[in-house]
Amino acid sequence: MSERLEDIAARMMASGKGILAADESTGTIKKRFDTIGAESTADTRRDYREMLFRADAMKDYISGVILYDETLRQSAKDGTPLVELIKTAGAVPGIKVDAGSKPLAGFPGESITEGLDGLRERLNEYYELGARFAKWRGVINISDVLPTRGAVRQNAQALARYAALCQEAGIVPIVEPEIMMDGEPGDHSIDRCYEVTEFVLNTVFDELYDARVSLEGMVLKPNMVIDGKNARKASREEVAEKTVRVLKSTVPSAVAGIAFLSGGQSDEEATAHLSLMNELHNPSWPLTFSYGRALQAAALKAWGGKAENVAAGQAAFAHRARMNSLAATGQWKL
Ligand code: 13P
Repeated sequence: MSERLEDIAARMMASGKGILAADESTGTIKKRFDTIGAESTADTRRDYREMLFRADAMKDYISGVILYDETLRQSAKDGTPLVELIKTAGAVPGIKVDAGSKPLAGFPGESITEGLDGLRERLNEYYELGARFAKWRGVINISDVLPTRGAVRQNAQALARYAALCQEAGIVPIVEPEIMMDGEPGDHSIDRCYEVTEFVLNTVFDELYDARVSLEGMVLKPNMVIDGKNARKASREEVAEKTVRVLKSTVPSAVAGIAFLSGGQSDEEATAHLSLMNELHNPSWPLTFSYGRALQAAALKAWGGKAENVAAGQAAFAHRARMNSLAATGQWKL
């Protein structure tokens, strides 16, 4: 019998652990490799991810890994499927299943995430390949006048249809409605972010209800409530307080857990915010990380695309993973 959704979600939310988002698309990982002057080929992408998945830090701090389609099908240099490395470390393999966000017709400056066509069949194949959770990201642009009600509703509907299909396939959906902190113009205040986050989460849970999605068998991946990249001034305490407040007022307590995206925050900020939330605000769900950049940036730099730097890359990854593990139990200190 296949594992219950609630049990998979509980493994993803294991205390003191969090999720490594390593699901950069081929285009995005190329941009990351460009910053260290490394070429992006199937082999170099494999080498980089193999370095992370073989790190000792995996078994102590990482409960799940989100993969991109290519990685789910790749094997390590010695022929071991990368999925097996993740399972051996005690983490759950996951898969990004959206096909990216595209301009939304009729809504200038807004986008819609594609990838619903054929999703049932793809999920069944991903299950066979070992994935037990999935991710879909809806992108919400924020300004004085955006988002519009229509764009939020359409993204929420897509998230809900995706989540229902995942659960049918025995896969836990990570539902990720991301209000962009580092988009343009990026001058919005923390209070504007609060207002938009509240509206988006209310709309998303309305659509999840209509789609009959089991809240116990899903994980929410939200943005934090934070000012835009060009308007940063809120304190860490204010970010933590407002983020937990908006979640408590919109997210049903039946949801299995919440795992934040880092969204362009510095490594240390992403850690500090999560720790303060857990330390001071008595959240109603397990609150952990599902970071991409905030877990990988230091490791990528230390590795630099060179085989001789694998141990240095793993050490840098271990440090961030350990700091975020402390934050997941509210124990990280400057
Ligand atoms: P960041 O933590 O870099 O925002 O990435 C997380 C993620 O998976 C975005 O979809």
